[in-house]
Amino acid sequence: MLLKCCFLLHILAFTLLSLNITVFAREEAKALVRWEKSFSPSLCSLKSWSLDNLENLCNWTGIVCSSQFTVSEINLSNCNIDGTLDNLDFTSFPNLTTFNLKDNNFIGSIPSSIGSLSKLTFLDLSNNSFEGIIPPAIGRLTELKHISFSNNQLNGIVPYEIGNLQKVQFLDFGWNYLGNGGWSKFRSMPSLSHLSLSNNNFTSGFPVFVPKCLNLTYLDLSANLFTGQIPESLFSNLGKLEVLDLHSNLITGYLPQSLTNLSKLTTFDVGNNSLSGNIFLGSVPYWTTLEVLSLWGNYFTGEIPSEIGGLTNLKYLQLYINDFSGSIPPKIGNLSYLTKLDLSFNHLSGPITPTIGNLSNLEFLRLDRNNLAGEIPFEIGKLKLLESLDLSENRLSGPLPTWISNLRRLEELYLTENKFSGKIPWDVLPTSLRKLWLFNNSFEGPISSTIGNISNISFLLLCSNKLTGQIPSSICNLSSLEFLHLSNNILEGTIPECLGNFSFLRVLRLNANRFQSLTPRTFAKDCAIEYLNLNSNQLEGTLPQSITNCQYLQFLDLGNNYVQDYFPSWTETLPKLRVIILRSNRFHGTIPATKMKFPFPKLQIFDISHNEFGGRLPMRYLKNFKSMKNVKENGTQTSDWYTDSQESMTLVFKGSEFQVVKILKSFTAIDLSNNRFCGNISDSIGKISSLRYLNLSHNSLTGHIPTSIGYLTVLESLDLSSNHLTGEIPEPLTTLTFLSVLNISHNYLVGRIPQSGGQFPTFENSSFMGNSGLCGYPLTKKCEDDEKQELPQEVHHDDGGDGILDGMTWQSVLMGYGFGTLFGIVLGHFILIKWPNLYRMFF
Ligand SMILES: *[C@@H]1O[C@H](CO)[C@@H](O)[C@H](O)[C@H]1NC(C)=O
Ligand SMILES: *[C@@H]1O[C@H](CO)[C@@H](O)[C@H](O)[C@H]1NC(C)=O
Ligand SMILES: *[C@@H]1O[C@H](CO)[C@@H](O)[C@H](O)[C@H]1NC(C)=O
Ligand SMILES: *[C@@H]1O[C@H](CO)[C@@H](O)[C@H](O)[C@H]1NC(C)=O
Ligand SMILES: *[C@@H]1O[C@H](CO)[C@@H](O)[C@H](O)[C@H]1NC(C)=O
Ligand SMILES: *[C@@H]1O[C@H](CO)[C@@H](O)[C@H](O)[C@H]1NC(C)=O
Ligand SMILES: *[C@@H]1O[C@H](CO)[C@@H](O)[C@H](O)[C@H]1NC(C)=O
Ligand SMILES: *[C@@H]1O[C@H](CO)[C@@H](O)[C@H](O)[C@H]1NC(C)=O
Ligand SMILES: *[C@@H]1O[C@H](CO)[C@@H](O)[C@H](O)[C@H]1NC(C)=O
Ligand SMILES: *[C@@H]1O[C@H](CO)[C@@H](O)[C@H](O)[C@H]1NC(C)=O
Ligand SMILES: *[C@@H]1O[C@H](CO)[C@@H](O)[C@H](O)[C@H]1NC(C)=O
Ligand SMILES: *[C@@H]1O[C@H](CO)[C@@H](O)[C@H](O)[C@H]1NC(C)=O
Repeated sequence: MLLKCCFLLHILAFTLLSLNITVFAREEAKALVRWEKSFSPSLCSLKSWSLDNLENLCNWTGIVCSSQFTVSEINLSNCNIDGTLDNLDFTSFPNLTTFNLKDNNFIGSIPSSIGSLSKLTFLDLSNNSFEGIIPPAIGRLTELKHISFSNNQLNGIVPYEIGNLQKVQFLDFGWNYLGNGGWSKFRSMPSLSHLSLSNNNFTSGFPVFVPKCLNLTYLDLSANLFTGQIPESLFSNLGKLEVLDLHSNLITGYLPQSLTNLSKLTTFDVGNNSLSGNIFLGSVPYWTTLEVLSLWGNYFTGEIPSEIGGLTNLKYLQLYINDFSGSIPPKIGNLSYLTKLDLSFNHLSGPITPTIGNLSNLEFLRLDRNNLAGEIPFEIGKLKLLESLDLSENRLSGPLPTWISNLRRLEELYLTENKFSGKIPWDVLPTSLRKLWLFNNSFEGPISSTIGNISNISFLLLCSNKLTGQIPSSICNLSSLEFLHLSNNILEGTIPECLGNFSFLRVLRLNANRFQSLTPRTFAKDCAIEYLNLNSNQLEGTLPQSITNCQYLQFLDLGNNYVQDYFPSWTETLPKLRVIILRSNRFHGTIPATKMKFPFPKLQIFDISHNEFGGRLPMRYLKNFKSMKNVKENGTQTSDWYTDSQESMTLVFKGSEFQVVKILKSFTAIDLSNNRFCGNISDSIGKISSLRYLNLSHNSLTGHIPTSIGYLTVLESLDLSSNHLTGEIPEPLTTLTFLSVLNISHNYLVGRIPQSGGQFPTFENSSFMGNSGLCGYPLTKKCEDDEKQELPQEVHHDDGGDGILDGMTWQSVLMGYGFGTLFGIVLGHFILIKWPNLYRMFF
């Protein structure tokens, strides 16, 4: 009886329990299904999430139950879900311990009702697009051990209620837009060991609660706007710290000596701040656990302390961009685990210490931009794992030694702007090389045919040396070439035909050599060349028409050669061409009328000066240069030309790694000077309304200066000198407010020089001389109504081309000497090296 009763009771209890279970489970399942309806997962199938499948709730995708058949975990991480939390009824999950939505696309705010998940220990909403504030109700989740909201768009302050999370060990609010809160109201969080507030908008002083979190091992406050000094309390209290990352803030002051109290530190990063003074390292041993020491981008001074050699576990040592001076301490050679050593951009002098050769794990060595002198010590040849070596911009001399062959993994070798000399050891260059930058040294001798061995090379920059002889045909092996710079050498002969076939070649600079024939004759259909500079050679012959296969060509410079050809009107179809320079050749003939509506659609610089072109001015071309017309000054749109790049025009390569040539978008120039053009300057000149530089001097132009020239409202320089122009100076010329250079000398102009308006009062008499009919200031000749009509004198035309504007050609404008700095163009040979390096350094 008793037994039976017991049995019945048992049954009853069981039934009640399972009834309960079903009720709670049904609640939870309903809440989940309602939530799921509002979003679309794409990586995880949520087919199981259905009320028909209620009995399997604990086996639904991403759901885990506790032993009581209630949902304890919701884990939808990395499901690529587009959704919100608006439809989720948090009160349905009283026993939830884990809520994980990491790596999805949830949007909207984090609802306050999340505060009802009172058993929650793990909350991860990172890497979504949540916005709005962090609800203070989070402070009610007092069981939380792990909380991450990183990589969202949360803003506002961090509510002080977060300090109630006394059990929290891991807290990551990085990569949001959070700003300062009332840090003083925060309690310390005694269990906290991992804290990241990086990449937010926190300003002013450090959060005061941090030094009170005595269990911290990982502290990342990087990439904020924290100012002031690093509080000493960080170092005196937080003895367990292993990672201290404060990089990219506005921190000032010195490194305190107590820093060495942090005896467990593995990473210390204060890069990219405004710290100064000497770096104290106290006495060894300490910091023997340190693996990463990053002090780059500060104002540290003094010598690199020799004690640095005591940091025996160091793997990364980043001291670049500081004001360190003195020599490299030999003890640096004790850091035998070092894989990356960067001392660039300092004022280090003396020789390169040979002990660097002891760093047998080194993969990356940068000593560039210092004042190091002497030869490269042969011990560097022992660094068998070296992949990148940068010694550029020092005062190093001597040869590039043959031990370079030992560096079998070397991919990047930068020795630019030093005083290296002798022959390049072509025979033994590591075949692993991808980038060989040797420009601006005194390397000499011919390029050996063994150059064909470095067949992985993509950047071969040998310009500004004293290389002689011909380019060997084995260069045709180097089909990965993207940049070939051989300019400013003494190379001669022919340019190998195969360069026209390289499918990756984007920049070809062969200017300032003694190449003789205009090759390659054939550019392949997939020609990728964007920049072609053959200026200042001895090239003869005609221009190969297959250059139109180079549909990406932006810059074409054939100036200062002996090319004998008609105007290459077929280049007008090149869709990206921005600069064409044919000056100082033997181009001749008339310039035929174009058939295209908009020839040269992107052209900004058209320089065909110093040739033998004749006939009338090619107005059909000029007036239809689309990118010289109606370009809204530094505006954001109008011509489509504005939409395809940012502020300044750059050739961007490999994910913006290289800024090769930088031309401001709004610089425009037309130079037809020193030819044999005749006839009038047509009124349609006024249509090139965005022109900044116009030079038609030293031709045989006749007629009046058209009044429409007043429409060239941004014109900065106008040279019409040494022609046969007649009539008066048109009044509209005085309205050009940017005009700072004017030369209309040596024509047959008459009448009074306008005395007011625009820049006119600032022009000197050299602008007007040689026009015997002109009078008034600044010329000495007075205008008098009753003055006897003077006979025009013989005008002296200086055919030598040494015009008054010498030193004021558009090229000099570009170099920034002239008035046009603002709209200048930067084509410096080596600009491309300096800044790319800076860029490279950051990665
Ligand atoms: C859970 O579901 C999977 C399929 O989603 C199934 O293979 C497995 O048998 C189920 N487990 C239980 C215990 O129902
Ligand atoms: C969530 O699920 C993912 C993959 O399904 C798993 O790797 C991760 O450990 C889970 N996280 C938690 C906190 O349960
Ligand atoms: C939550 O879990 C506790 C035990 O941990 C259990 O007693 C309780 O019934 C559960 N609550 C619900 C609603 O399932
Ligand atoms: C963020 O999540 C996406 C998938 O939604 C993933 O591809 C990406 O790697 C994640 N980013 C980070 C920083 O974890
Ligand atoms: C501090 O961390 C250690 C382990 O890292 C842990 O054992 C200890 O309980 C923590 N202290 C507090 C107060 O949570
Ligand atoms: C970041 O802070 C600055 C200055 O405190 C403020 O001007 C800016 O709007 C803030 N940015 C965001 C995204 O909150
Ligand atoms: C250096 O810090 C500034 C802000 O102080 C930031 O804009 C910049 O991106 C940081 N540079 C790097 C390379 O982290
Ligand atoms: C920290 O360093 C300072 C100065 O170096 C020293 O006086 C102090 O005793 C150290 N504190 C601890 C806790 O080691
Ligand atoms: C560090 O290098 C010096 C020589 O430069 C050597 O005498 C010393 O023993 C080395 N110390 C360690 C710990 O290797
Ligand atoms: C370190 O380099 C120096 C000079 O190259 C050498 O004399 C010394 O033996 C090297 N020390 C070790 C430990 O390799
Ligand atoms: C070459 O280097 C010298 C000094 O090292 C420097 O003055 C010169 O400007 C450099 N030339 C170029 C083209 O960068
Ligand atoms: C354009 O540049 C001028 C100065 O050259 C400047 O005053 C003006 O604000 C700029 N306009 C825009 C829209 O950037």
